[in-house]
Amino acid sequence: MWRWLAVSVLAVNATAQVPSEPDLASGQKLFTSQCALCHGVAGGGGRGPSLTRAKLNHAADDAALREVIKNGIPPEMPGAWQLSAREVANTAAYVKSLGSVPAEPLIGDVSRGARLYEANGCSGCHINGGRGEGFGPELTGIGSKRSAAYLREALRNPAASTPDGFVYVTATTNSGETVRGIRVNEDTFTVQLKDAQGRFHSMSKADLKELRASRKETPMPGYGTRLSSAELEDLVAYLAGLRGKA
Ligand code: HEC
Ligand code: HEC
Repeated sequence: MWRWLAVSVLAVNATAQVPSEPDLASGQKLFTSQCALCHGVAGGGGRGPSLTRAKLNHAADDAALREVIKNGIPPEMPGAWQLSAREVANTAAYVKSLGSVPAEPLIGDVSRGARLYEANGCSGCHINGGRGEGFGPELTGIGSKRSAAYLREALRNPAASTPDGFVYVTATTNSGETVRGIRVNEDTFTVQLKDAQGRFHSMSKADLKELRASRKETPMPGYGTRLSSAELEDLVAYLAGLRGKA
């Protein structure tokens, strides 16, 4: 009796929601307006991870992908509660299509890229596979988070792609001393910075003459002119292959 009831309810539902193909064009429009801000225009990554990957960590199948879009991943990824079920399905179909675009072929040489990484002082600012130090973001799993295009741009023009959470701050004390670093924490009365040597500075705001934060400023040098374009490609190939777990 129970089983029969369940089956008939399902049957009614199935006829109520006429199944139809998801609309990719509408999904792309929704993606551009609701998601690109964090995931990049073509899903190449930004504040949120790149979505141009065949396998997404949080979305093993279509249903899980729709769940992620609808409910988000607290605390950083907001749920798209404003979208209807149909719009969520269209957006999901578009996200899925991003993953089936073949990855951009990398023309660089990975082992040359690894040597360039060592020779250019990257380890002075980044941790990578447990080695290195400093205040840059960890690069251990960067290849599974960022597309090759994003990595290339991050090397050429670091200020254009500062990841969330990295705010470069200049603090000038009343006695005229200047400390520059990445903001680690800030509240009403104090601010904590980590400087280029990896040292922490905790300062009382009462002791500061000026506290200047800049989103568009970064201590990372641009490598577009320091390296040849072939070298840049080697470095991109090396970074794209870094897929370890941080
Ligand atoms: C405010 C920024 C922001 C917006 C807007 C945003 N996301 Fe995200 N998204 C993130 C962040 C950050 C993560 C990584 C969360 C984590 O892993 O903890 C993420 C993760 C995801 C994931 C999981 C990736 C994986 O590897 O499993 C998918 C899929 C996704 N977002 C799709 C979307 C879609 C589609 C939209 C638009 C409807 C959207 N996001 C809007 C920030 C955002
Ligand atoms: C003086 C310190 C410094 C040096 C040297 C440096 N970086 Fe960075 N790097 C940073 C900081 C800080 C950020 C975060 C702000 C930004 O994006 O500019 C960053 C960001 C990045 C990003 C983007 C990460 C993301 O998730 O968006 C990549 C990739 C990167 N660096 C690679 C490199 C490589 C490769 C080298 C060596 C060729 C290098 N960096 C040298 C400080 C540095």
